[in-house]
Amino acid sequence: MKNIFIINGPNLNLLGKREPEIYGGETLDEINQKIVHLAIELGVQCRFMQSNSEGELICYIHKAINEADAIIINPAGYTHTSIALLDALKAAPIPKVEVHLSNIHSREDFRKVSITAAGCTGSISGLGADGYLLALRYIADKIRGK
Ligand code: DQA
Repeated sequence: MKNIFIINGPNLNLLGKREPEIYGGETLDEINQKIVHLAIELGVQCRFMQSNSEGELICYIHKAINEADAIIINPAGYTHTSIALLDALKAAPIPKVEVHLSNIHSREDFRKVSITAAGCTGSISGLGADGYLLALRYIADKIRGK
């Protein structure tokens, strides 16, 4: 079965409590449950990882090179700062979708630039938790039969 790594960066463990007017009221566990239900429907398997540490996120992307068929990643604050995460994503020759809950293009200027998106196949921003589900549908379709 195809294996998709769902990677979430810093502070996303606080979803539900963290600025709910921006990021919504769902917890990360609740979002991940929705992803699991859709994955079953699509016949793919998801592995979930969240870390507040840049190094751990990079190591998990390295792991994905050998173990995953695709990546869905919300690099959170590292989106706007991390060349190291960009390099790790570029090193992973599999489909990768960057997801943001909020519309980073309608927020502060420093959030409008994503350094990491250049290492991904594409990105979704501003659709809340639905962004992860749309990314999963795209990826399941893309890797089917490969
Ligand atoms: C975010 C947007 C980032 O700017 C922010 O640092 C986050 C979450 C989002 O999902 O909207 O932590 O990636």
